[in-house]
Amino acid sequence: MALTDSYLRNINYVRISVTDRCNFRCRYCMPEDGVPLLDHRDIMSYEELALLCQALQDLGVKKIRFTGGEPLVRRGFLDFLSSLKGLLPNLKIALTTNGAMLGQEAQRIAEIGISGLNVSLDTIDPEKFRYITRNGDLQGVLNGMRMVRDLGLRSIKVNTVLIRSFNDMEVPALLDFCAKNDYLLRLIEFMPLDDGLWSKDSFISADEILGRVSSGYRWVPSSTGEEVMGPAKYYRDLETGQRIGIISSVSSHFCSHCNRVRISASGRLRACLFAREETDLRPFLLKGDFEGLKDIIVKAVSAKPRCWEDVITGDLHMSQIGG
Ligand code: GTP
Ligand code: 5AD
Ligand code: SF4
Repeated sequence: MALTDSYLRNINYVRISVTDRCNFRCRYCMPEDGVPLLDHRDIMSYEELALLCQALQDLGVKKIRFTGGEPLVRRGFLDFLSSLKGLLPNLKIALTTNGAMLGQEAQRIAEIGISGLNVSLDTIDPEKFRYITRNGDLQGVLNGMRMVRDLGLRSIKVNTVLIRSFNDMEVPALLDFCAKNDYLLRLIEFMPLDDGLWSKDSFISADEILGRVSSGYRWVPSSTGEEVMGPAKYYRDLETGQRIGIISSVSSHFCSHCNRVRISASGRLRACLFAREETDLRPFLLKGDFEGLKDIIVKAVSAKPRCWEDVITGDLHMSQIGG
């Protein structure tokens, strides 16, 4: 069985947020006082999450990326991942994290056998890091990343949201840092959410980003396999073999070949990152109605909007939708 929407896009990748809580308060993601948090009862239990993943796999989903808030702050999350890996060994499991807890969890993360770890890292300057995350500790994140890498986790990507006059001048240093550590750098266009930081002046387009990384490099396109369907376009430097990803969700939509939907921590399926409409899966999860769950997912996916331009709304915070 395959999940297909009305524009004939095949949905085989789902992002599931496991919590809306986060131990950082990045300025582009959350207001300083945080956002109203979900009550524990309103969050899918691990039993519900396992049922959901099973249903998604039955429907042809090949990869689930867990996001937050920050997924590692949810108690029992790594135990859940281990048991999920046992239950659904063929499902690719990936994680997007702010990296703050990688150090303390490195051993367990390495043992689970996840297929990829994406770490949000906008700067490698400790002061700027403290500023953008509202008090995060850069060294702790860098140490944690090194630990999981040294324990054998190979696919580590660095997600850098580029903000003009804040970190755009750091691109060469970030490239160098990633080359030395065997991480894959992805430069992300800053998406306009209701965060108080975004402005036309702070935005840098993918074209400009590429221009900025041109000096001294000879980049050629190098997206392969499932990468072709994601928001990132990959390039490889002919001289060194280093790769880089550019995520241009604002200037050049990848919507026409979008392969994904997202599900919030409260069990609401959002067919597009910017859609206002959500489909509540929770009643089916609470009843353990497996067939009903699959039917409602099929229906929600078929109504996926053509493009975020058609549906964008102004009052969303990234921490609530998991990126
Ligand atoms: P891979 O599976 O490693 O390719 O990761 P990913 O890029 O799908 O996920 P990640 O959590 O690392 O997100 C990287 C950036 O892509 C973030 O800025 C996300 O907000 C953005 N992104 C992910 N999915 C979508 C999407 O469906 N639409 C748009 N516009 N942006 C997305
Ligand atoms: N634009 C682009 N990316 C964003 N992220 C958070 N807010 C934004 C935004 N406004 C990124 C984080 C994280 C991923 C899940 O989403 O940096 O890597
Ligand atoms: Fe937390 Fe990530 Fe949002 Fe920063 S961008 S506040 S780390 S969820």
